[in-house]
Amino acid sequence: MKRPHVICHMMSSVDGKILSANWKNQELTDTFAGYFEQYHETFTSQAWMCGRVTMERDFSGGVQPDLQPAPQPIAREAFIGDANATSFAVAVDAHGRLGWDANTTGGDHIVEVLTEQVSDDYLYYLQRQRISYLFAGAEEIDFNAALEQLAALFPIKTLMLEGGGHLNGSLLNAGLIDELSLLLLPIADGTLQSPTTFEVSDYLRKGPATRLYLSAVQQLDNDVVWLKYNFKAA
Ligand SMILES: NC(=O)c1ccc[n+]([C@@H]2O[C@H](COP(=O)([O-])OP(=O)(O)OC[C@H]3O[C@@H](n4cnc5c(N)ncnc54)[C@H](OP(=O)(O)O)[C@@H]3O)[C@@H](O)[C@H]2O)c1
Repeated sequence: MKRPHVICHMMSSVDGKILSANWKNQELTDTFAGYFEQYHETFTSQAWMCGRVTMERDFSGGVQPDLQPAPQPIAREAFIGDANATSFAVAVDAHGRLGWDANTTGGDHIVEVLTEQVSDDYLYYLQRQRISYLFAGAEEIDFNAALEQLAALFPIKTLMLEGGGHLNGSLLNAGLIDELSLLLLPIADGTLQSPTTFEVSDYLRKGPATRLYLSAVQQLDNDVVWLKYNFKAA
């Protein structure tokens, strides 16, 4: 089955750290965030994907889901909340923890990637909010299955994988990333236990390191370097 082309787009310090909150310089952080958005726009994509932690911290505002008892059992089948949507924000939320104020974020229709263990009450909540969802795995996310469904159910040909490190690490480990777009920032961070661009969680069996192939390098203003890599040799 087909899956979308996956481009991992990230910004990191020279030591690979991705938590801008640790940099304690809001003006600089805002400047770098501007680069992140600007260079995101250089790609033609229909969707972007983030992990539950990034969605909670940067997009949902930590809203708690307003759970109400589901009137009847809900089948573990994909649900389409907006059949006319053309751009998508994909949230990897294995346990069904995220709450949302609307069925869009940043103008993009939200699609939740869940496992079958989530409660009927949470599915009922998503249905009430007209938020799309699909199931990828019984208890652990199967990213192959998630990507295949994203391509089959929605008009998604290219997906931007945009962190955090644990989500990126999961797709790296599964061999599902095609390109890396990395904004290397002039920051030496050094914070212990701060996530890096790729973190493979303890519960995953880690594969070997991946050789990348440089496809472009560009020096930007403010000492930022934009690096692009392919995951397969040209
Ligand atoms: N510098 C950048 O370019 C950049 C970009 C994006 C984000 N960030 C920052 O990165 C930070 C968060 O990064 P993070 O690595 O801690 O978290 P994350 O990758 O955003 O989210 C991790 C969560 O996603 C779910 N997840 C990931 N892999 C999974 C898998 N294989 N199976 C099931 N669920 C999986 C899990 O949710 P559950 O715990 O619910 O199971 C996991 O805890 C944020 O502070 C954000 O601001 C930086």
